[in-house]
Amino acid sequence: MRTWTIRKLLNWLITQFEKNDIISPKQNAETIISHVLKMKRLDIYLHLEKEISKTLSNLILDIALRREKHEPLQYILGETEFYGYKIKVCNSVLIPRPETELLVEKIINEEKKVNSLLEIGTGSGAIAIALAKNLNAKTIDAVDISETALKTAQQNADLNNVEINFFHSDIFENVTGRYDIIVSNPPYISQTEYEQLSKEIKDHEPKSALQAKNNGLYFYEKILQNAKEHLTKSGKIYFEIGYDQADKIIEIAKENGFCNIRVFKDLNGFDRIMRIFNT
Ligand SMILES: C[S@@+](CC[C@H](N)C(=O)[O-])C[C@H]1O[C@@H](n2cnc3c(N)ncnc32)[C@H](O)[C@@H]1O
Repeated sequence: MRTWTIRKLLNWLITQFEKNDIISPKQNAETIISHVLKMKRLDIYLHLEKEISKTLSNLILDIALRREKHEPLQYILGETEFYGYKIKVCNSVLIPRPETELLVEKIINEEKKVNSLLEIGTGSGAIAIALAKNLNAKTIDAVDISETALKTAQQNADLNNVEINFFHSDIFENVTGRYDIIVSNPPYISQTEYEQLSKEIKDHEPKSALQAKNNGLYFYEKILQNAKEHLTKSGKIYFEIGYDQADKIIEIAKENGFCNIRVFKDLNGFDRIMRIFNT
C-alpha cells in the first residue's frame, strides 16, 4: 500500500492540476494540503517527509479530484478570506473577489465618521463585515434578494463577532431608513459577457449574483433612481463597477440629480470604484 508523505502529495497534486489546466497549480496544492493538515501554508515545507494517515491523505485526494474538475477551491473548502477575515461560502453566494477589497479599503480610508450604512446585495456579507470591523458605525444594514445568502451572511457576521441587520429586500423594497453610506457591488455583467466567463464560474457561481439586465446596468439604474430617498444630506454612494461602465453610470447618476462623482481605478489601472455624493 502506498504511503503518502507531504512531499509526495504535493507533487501528485501539482502534476494533476497542471494536466487539468488549473491556474496556479502549486498554490492550489499547498492550500488544500495546509487546510486539511491544519498547518500554515509555508510550514508544509518544514515537514515534507511527514507521513500522512490514510484518512487525511484520502481527504486531500478527494478534494483534489473535485478541484481537477474545476470546482472553485473556496466552495470545496467552504471558506475563503476577505480583507483578512474568514468568510464561509457555499454555492448560493458569490466568492468575494480581491478587487472588492479595494472598495472596502477606499471606504475605510475616506470615511472617518459614519453613523449608518446600508449594503445592497450583501451575498456572503463580506463587505458589510469588513466595514463593521473597521468603521465605528452605529447601524449597519445589509440586504439581499437571496434568503440562503442572508443565512450565510448572518453566520459570517457571528463568526466575526459583528452586529449587522440582515434582511430580505429586492434592492430598496423593504428599506425604510436613511444612511450616510450606501455601498453596493451589484451584479453587473451583461448577458454577452456572461457567456464568455470561464466554466469554473458559470458552472458553480450563482448567475443571479453576476449578471444584470440592461447591458449590466440594471442595478445601478434602480439604485440611483431611488437613492436620494435613502441617503442623509451629506450621504454618499460607493459602487464597485465594471471596467467599461463608468461613463454610462455617470450619465445615469446625473439624470437622477447627482453631480459630484468620482471614479477610482484598481491595481490594473481599470475603473473599478465609483463614489457619488448626495449633495
Ligand atoms: C456581485 S454579488 C455581491 C456579493 C457580495 N456583496 C460581494 O461583494 O462579494 C451581488 C449580490 O446581489 C444580490 N442580488 C441580486 N439581485 C438582487 C436584488 N434584486 N436585490 C437585492 N440583492 C440582489 C445577489 O444575490 C448577490 O448576493
